Amino acid sequence: MTTSAPAESPPGAALSLELVDSVAVVTFDLPDEPVNKFTRGVRDEFAVLLERIEEDPTITAVVLASGKPDVFIAGADIEELLAIHSPGEAERLSAEGQAMLDRMERGKPVVAAIDGACLGAGLEAALACAWRVASENPKTILALPEVQLGLIPGAGGTQRLPRTVGLRSALDMILSGKNVRPKKALQIGLVDDLVHPAIVRDVALRRARELGAGTRRRSTGRLRRDAQSLLLDDNPLGRSVVFRQAREQTLKKTRGHYPAPLAALDAVAAGYQGGRERGLREEARLFGEMAATDVSKELIYLFFASNALKKDPGVANPAATASPVEKVGILGAGFMGAGIASVAAPQGTVVRLKDADTGRVAKGLASVREVLKERLAKKQITRQQFDDQLSLVSGTTDYSGFGNVDLVIEAVFEDLAVKHQVLREVELVAPADVIFATNTSTIPIARIAQASARPDRVLGMHFFSPVHKMPLLEVIVTPRTSDDVTATAVAYGKKLGKTVIVVNDGPGFYANRILSPYVNEAGKLLDEGAAIDAIDRALVAFGFPVGPITLIDEVGIDIAAKSGNIVADAFGERMVPSQSLQRVISAGRLGRKGRQGFYLYGPDGRKGDVDQTVYDLLPTGTHRAEISAEEIQRRCVLAMVNEAVRCLEDGILRSPRDGDVGAVFGIGFPPFRGGPFRYIDSLGAAEVVRQLEELDGRFPPRFEPSELLIDMARSGRKFGKL
Ligand code: NAI
Repeated sequence: MTTSAPAESPPGAALSLELVDSVAVVTFDLPDEPVNKFTRGVRDEFAVLLERIEEDPTITAVVLASGKPDVFIAGADIEELLAIHSPGEAERLSAEGQAMLDRMERGKPVVAAIDGACLGAGLEAALACAWRVASENPKTILALPEVQLGLIPGAGGTQRLPRTVGLRSALDMILSGKNVRPKKALQIGLVDDLVHPAIVRDVALRRARELGAGTRRRSTGRLRRDAQSLLLDDNPLGRSVVFRQAREQTLKKTRGHYPAPLAALDAVAAGYQGGRERGLREEARLFGEMAATDVSKELIYLFFASNALKKDPGVANPAATASPVEKVGILGAGFMGAGIASVAAPQGTVVRLKDADTGRVAKGLASVREVLKERLAKKQITRQQFDDQLSLVSGTTDYSGFGNVDLVIEAVFEDLAVKHQVLREVELVAPADVIFATNTSTIPIARIAQASARPDRVLGMHFFSPVHKMPLLEVIVTPRTSDDVTATAVAYGKKLGKTVIVVNDGPGFYANRILSPYVNEAGKLLDEGAAIDAIDRALVAFGFPVGPITLIDEVGIDIAAKSGNIVADAFGERMVPSQSLQRVISAGRLGRKGRQGFYLYGPDGRKGDVDQTVYDLLPTGTHRAEISAEEIQRRCVLAMVNEAVRCLEDGILRSPRDGDVGAVFGIGFPPFRGGPFRYIDSLGAAEVVRQLEELDGRFPPRFEPSELLIDMARSGRKFGKL
């Protein structure tokens, strides 16, 4: 028989304690917050509770559970970190966290009942427990994501995780921050039991009783591992190989821009070399150092910015309502149409894909299948889910099945006449209140809407390719788009897992508009004789995932040229296309898709070296001019950030925040620089204006600073404080 005492919980408390026989069940439920996190207040409560447990002789063991659905503990309070300004302060915070978890670990055995997200400091707390029970809830994920915020685990994670799961698995988690699902967690010894969500608490209670009674020993996660990795961890030579490889891989991946993974590696290594005490001291010191870096501040800024966007309905009008989208009709089963279908079906949306002939429809359906198959192979979905999701997508060559769609997404050729034609056709068959969203990448939405009988229901939903991987969705509204339509598109975009920014209509919208002068500047550098690989290397060194010339090859030289012409028409002289791009496209080179571009491509499409024969097409021929990496970076990047400010000035963007998130998530602006506006803030608007003016003197009028930027420079204001 179990006896249970009423829960002890002072009003407003995050932690409550309930006695079940000799087991203290501590439930974490942070008031007025969707998730549990270790705020200062929670840490204080925790200390009081630990003392209470230690002093009560009737308590033999503890269960730590969450009162929130789908979240165990989401981590530390990141806002608290932003308020910290010195490495010393952050180091103290880390040391305090370590001391708290040490005390818990040394005391009466605690069992973690993990149902839902167990992240960062939450996982560090679980690692300090004597036993870990996890649920098979799809929402249960375990991770140490600190490096994604430019930090390292600071509450003992760099010491306890390797001892629990072995060095290799621990580094895999700590250096990437990636999520581990419960089944894998059981395999690597990260958790000790895997049970149905309904019985997590009961099993945890049982384990606590056993531990309290001494009939079960504390978990030794590592014993579950295979003999080979045990040998490796205990052998200094083997360990040094693992550390060296991890360091090399990390440097290759971060290109020296992100210090946190290397710091985490040092903290782990310190523990192996000098023992746990030394490891913990290093962890706290390095945590402090990382928390004070600009990289961490920018990554945390982006984290908050994208979280704020998740809560943003996309319209200021509080009366606007988003309607549910249950069925979508997609026009064009090509690259983008199929891509959109492959993210819609997993959300339970019924999808009707239309293309001009059955061959193209079949090809589109096959690529949806490919994306879902990849998910199945990665075990992100079960075979049943794969079948269910696939069965939601069907194809057609006429408009059958469009009679009851809530939303039409148009992804036909980038040709105004074709877009007008399909818009007129679909409006005849779809319901009167259907929303028509075009995925055009360059044509102003208002021009497309001219063919519509209901322009208030037309807007842009600009996805990025590949759709299932790229996180951004640009929703583009015209002055006539109704707020309800915008709210629906934004809500549906979020449902598809996208970070959504709402921008006003205009050539290139936001993302492509700022990309244009950047790519164009790379073309101008080619015109002057810069080497193709020198341009790409300089911008990769700045932090872009690929250089602009590689990007042109990837997107298609024809598409890049077309989009360049559209912005040149709209913005005149400052965007006049480079001669180089024109000449290369006139020679019929299309980039990777045609296996012929600025680079060489193998038969499988794999990129090789620069195709030296392309220089024959360029204005300076085989003559190469020496242009420094710094000049290349400055010209391309300042052209982009100046244009971003113009987008704000012209009212295309609602806020610098949207501009930063859009550039990082949509076109790969280096995350550690926070985005174009944060980058300007970090240099100071006055310095950016000075550099632009210097460039404008040499290349008029491409670098004329925008009015708003000059204004900011004069007043000394920052975009972060607009
Ligand atoms: P795609 O050429 O792969 O697909 C277009 C499809 O539309 C083709 O399968 C074609 O047969 C079909 N189509 C043409 N006329 C049609 C009609 N009357 N009815 C039904 N289907 C018709 O082109 P992609 O790359 O998918 O681009 C589609 C749209 O998405 C374009 O507006 C493009 O600018 C835009 N976009 C493309 C991106 C990319 O990276 N490829 C990124 C973002 C937007």
